Amino acid sequence: MAPLRHLLSIEDLGGAAGIEEVLRLTDSFVEVSERAIPRVPALRGKTVASLFYEDSTRTRLSFEAAAKRLSADTMSFSVSSSSVKKGESLRDTALTIEAMGVDAIVVRHSSSGAPQRVASWVGASVVNAGDGWHEHPTQALLDLYTIRQRLGGLDGRHIAVVGDVKHSRVARSDVLAFTALGATVTLVAPGTLLPPDLTGWPVETSHDLDAVLPNVDVVYLLRMQRERMTEALVPSLREYTARFGLTVRRAGRLADGAIVMHPGPMNRGVEIAPEVADLPASTIVDQVRNGVAVRMAVLYLLLGAGTDRVPTTDALALDPEEPLRRPAEVDA
Ligand code: NCD
Repeated sequence: MAPLRHLLSIEDLGGAAGIEEVLRLTDSFVEVSERAIPRVPALRGKTVASLFYEDSTRTRLSFEAAAKRLSADTMSFSVSSSSVKKGESLRDTALTIEAMGVDAIVVRHSSSGAPQRVASWVGASVVNAGDGWHEHPTQALLDLYTIRQRLGGLDGRHIAVVGDVKHSRVARSDVLAFTALGATVTLVAPGTLLPPDLTGWPVETSHDLDAVLPNVDVVYLLRMQRERMTEALVPSLREYTARFGLTVRRAGRLADGAIVMHPGPMNRGVEIAPEVADLPASTIVDQVRNGVAVRMAVLYLLLGAGTDRVPTTDALALDPEEPLRRPAEVDA
């Protein structure tokens, strides 16, 4: 893969080889994350700023945890407590953050293409943490990593992506990522929640979840993103759940070994029954855990790798500035 300057879309990784490279690197950072002191000096001296114009729990915390585990300094910006409230533009805000000396800016915005715009204004690397209905590439990478961990690989797997595909940046990045690694994707949704034009999407579609479930290795559920809907696209949530929710009865139609995924935040009782979310087949907690290591890999590729793509033993060594470890940990 050519050196990575920004991660705005899954396509920036240049196909299967680039994606595999991130997943391989993630293996190293999963190992780091399992250490008693999950911190390495790889990005010491670098600063990672997060610029979030939309609410977020896991994505924001995950990027911050990733940057900290790599020993980078972090700066955090949220619209509700910033000068955006006073009318500052995205461009001026981005330039202000850059002037403070940052190496990477992690951007979430309700407008598709906002991270791309930021990338055109600043010298820092930009990571797209979700832009409008467009893309959410690190979510797709952590989803791939989780599928690989549970099922051994993507090639030849059949994945159903169920629900509000129309408003989902996760679905767009996932379809690109899953199919790049050889999986087949079926989108399952009412017609009103599918994108109006699927030309060029390498997918099948269905309106019948019961018929699709027995044939898939992965069922990937999406939240009804009501904050992005401008009109009533389903008659009622109850009706949606009756046809497209993964109820306990429906989960019984899944083949042995099939897994249930969700990017969070879940609306238990709408797209997924509470009991199903907690089944061993559910990977929801694994996805969050893997998210930190995947984001470490992405930040490392952007800021730490240079031409040396494999982290050196030095970069992954214990942080010499850490306080002395307890004797039990030294013995372990
Ligand atoms: C998603 C998002 O914000 O795009 N969540 C996430 O990042 N894990 C999905 C959603 O909002 O439903």
